[in-house]
Amino acid sequence: MTRVLFVCLGNICRSPMAHGIFAHEVAQRGLGDRFEVDSAGTAAYHAGEDPDPRSMAVLRKHGIGLRHASRQVTDADFARFDLLLAMDRSNEKNLLARCPAPLRDRVRMMLEPVGGGEVGDPYYGGADGFDRNFRELTEASRAWIERLT
Ligand code: 4NP
Repeated sequence: MTRVLFVCLGNICRSPMAHGIFAHEVAQRGLGDRFEVDSAGTAAYHAGEDPDPRSMAVLRKHGIGLRHASRQVTDADFARFDLLLAMDRSNEKNLLARCPAPLRDRVRMMLEPVGGGEVGDPYYGGADGFDRNFRELTEASRAWIERLT
């Protein structure tokens, strides 16, 4: 079993989208029982809330469903998850600041297997940001699944 946690700032836009896409891609390959996936935010602003409707609309457009309530990253997540995938450098920095030293290799950038870079924060932008996030997250999810299987 490989446990993967997707992490952004608020856990309402990017990381729930990554969570839904990754679970969908894994299920399509018949690998659902080999992965456990979840998502969380470095901040607690939106704890308990549903994903942003703009993220849900993009997922729905691609036939992907998701049920998730926003939650903040906890100290226990570093031991529980094999990989904690950060959307941007700020998320990575916040995770590393909390991560026990022996577990630091678990904190990685989401776009690492597709050339690196950041999944940009779409919160204050338009729908095109969410579409771009979807393309990046799909490509990166496929690359991580290939690497992990
Ligand atoms: P996310 O997007 O980190 O992709 O969930 C954001 C959601 C909320 C805020 C910022 C980014 N916010 O400032 O409330």
